[in-house]
Amino acid sequence: MSDKAVLNVDGQSYDFDVFTGSENEKCIDISDLRSKTGYITMDPGFGNTGSCYSSITYVDGAKGILKYRGYPIEELAQKATFTETAYLILYGELPTQEQLFAFSKRIREHAPIHTNLEHHFSGFPQNAPPMAILSAMLNLVSCFHPEVLEVPTTGEEFDRTAALLLSKVRTIAAFAYRMASGQPINHPNPNLSYCSNFLHMMFSDPFQPYEASPAIDQALNLFLILHADHEQNCSTSTVRVVGSSRANLFSSVAAGVCALWGPLHGGANAAVIKMLREIRDSGNTPSYYLDRAKDKNDEFRLMGFGHRIYKNFDPRSIILKNQVHEVLKELNIDDNLLEIALELEETTLKDEYFISRNLYPNVDFYSGILLRAIGIPLNMYTVMFAIGRMPGWIANWKELHDHNQRISRPRQIFTGETSRAYVPID
Ligand code: CMC
Repeated sequence: MSDKAVLNVDGQSYDFDVFTGSENEKCIDISDLRSKTGYITMDPGFGNTGSCYSSITYVDGAKGILKYRGYPIEELAQKATFTETAYLILYGELPTQEQLFAFSKRIREHAPIHTNLEHHFSGFPQNAPPMAILSAMLNLVSCFHPEVLEVPTTGEEFDRTAALLLSKVRTIAAFAYRMASGQPINHPNPNLSYCSNFLHMMFSDPFQPYEASPAIDQALNLFLILHADHEQNCSTSTVRVVGSSRANLFSSVAAGVCALWGPLHGGANAAVIKMLREIRDSGNTPSYYLDRAKDKNDEFRLMGFGHRIYKNFDPRSIILKNQVHEVLKELNIDDNLLEIALELEETTLKDEYFISRNLYPNVDFYSGILLRAIGIPLNMYTVMFAIGRMPGWIANWKELHDHNQRISRPRQIFTGETSRAYVPID
C-alpha cells in the first residue's frame, strides 16, 4: 500500500505522508499542508482531526473496544483496582506488588490538605456547584505547593506530584460536598483504601464513622476504573491544549474539570438521572421523550445516548448495566429509575431514528444509577467522573510534554467584514 496520500488542488499535485498506528488506524500527516499549498483543513468539532500520537488508550468505536495500555476494559473492570489502573495509565505497565505499595503509600500521605487551604472552602456560598469548587480548589492547591508549578514528567518529582494530585482531588471533592451541604468535614483516614477513604470523607458523621460495605467499595472502584481515561475526549483535549502552552499540571487539569462539567460530556451522568426522574414523575411514556429527541425543533436530546466515537455499544455501558443489576440486588435496593432506563433503552434500540444514526447508550446512561446505589448525591455525579478521569488527564499532560508537542493553535477561515473606515461616534 502507498505510504503517501496525494492531494490535487489548483491544478497541482502534493504528496503527504501516511502513518498507520499499532491498531491499524490510519492518518494523513498534513502538518505541512499550509506551507506547501496555502490551504488549511476545516473540521469544526475535530471529528476527523488527530491532535497527537498517543500510546495510552485505544478505542475502536465501530467494534465497541476500549483498552488502557493494551489491556481490555472488561478485564481491568473485573480484576484490577482503581489505584492499579491509575498506575497502569500513568506509567504504561501494571505495577508489581512493591510498586503498587509505594504508589498507594504516596497517595495516602498526600490525602490531607493544608489547613489554610481548608479555610478557603468556607468562602463558597452554600449550595455552590461542587464542580466549580473542585476546579477552583485544584488551581489553589498549587499555591500551597509552589514546587508543583514546574514539574518534570519523569522521576521522583513527577511521581510525587501525580500521587499528590490523585489524592488531593479525592479530598477536595469530599470536602466540597461536606461544605456545600453545611456538614463538618471529615479528615482522611490513612488506614482505608482509596475508595473507602473517599466514602468515609463523604459520609462519616462526627460520632458515627461510615464503613463502606465490600459491595459499595467495589462498585465505586469499578465506576472509577471505567472513567479513568478515554483518549482525546473534550476534557482531555482541553488539558492538552492548556498544557501545550506549558501551563502547569494543576491549572491544566482544573481546565479539564470545567470542560467535563457540560451536559454533552461528563455532566450527562447527572442529566440522565434528571431525565429519568422527569419521565417517572410526569407519567409520560418513554416514546413521548423519544419523539421529542427526534424533533429537530425541540432542543431535548436523549441524555446518555450517542457518542462521537462509538457507533456500536459503548463497552463501559454494558459493564455498568450488568453491575447495576448486581449491586442493587446485593444491597437489596429496588430503584424504579432502573426500570425506566431499561424500558427507554429497549424502545430506543428499536427506533429507526436511533438505529440509522448508530445511537447507543453511552457510559453515562447507567452510571448514575450505580452512583445512586452507592449513595452519592446528584450534584456530585460529575465530580465523581472527574476523580475517575484524573489518571487519564495526568498521563496525557505527561505525554504531551514527553513528545514536546507544539502549542495548540488552530486556524480559522475569516468570514467577517473586510476593511472599513472608522466613523467617529459623534
Ligand atoms: N438524542 C437525540 N439525537 C441525537 C443524540 C441524542 N442523545 N445524539 C446524537 N443525536 C443525533 C444528532 O441530532 C444528529 O442527527 P442528524 O444527523 O439528523 O443531525 C446525529 O445524531 C449525530 O449526532 P451529532 O450531534 O453530530 O454527534 P456528536 O458526535 O457531535 O455528539 C454527543 C456526540 C455525545 C455530544 C451526542 O450524541 C449527545 O449530545 N448525546 C447526549 C449527551 C450525552 O449523553 N453525552 C455523554 C457522552 S459519553 C461520555 C463522555 O465522554 O462525555
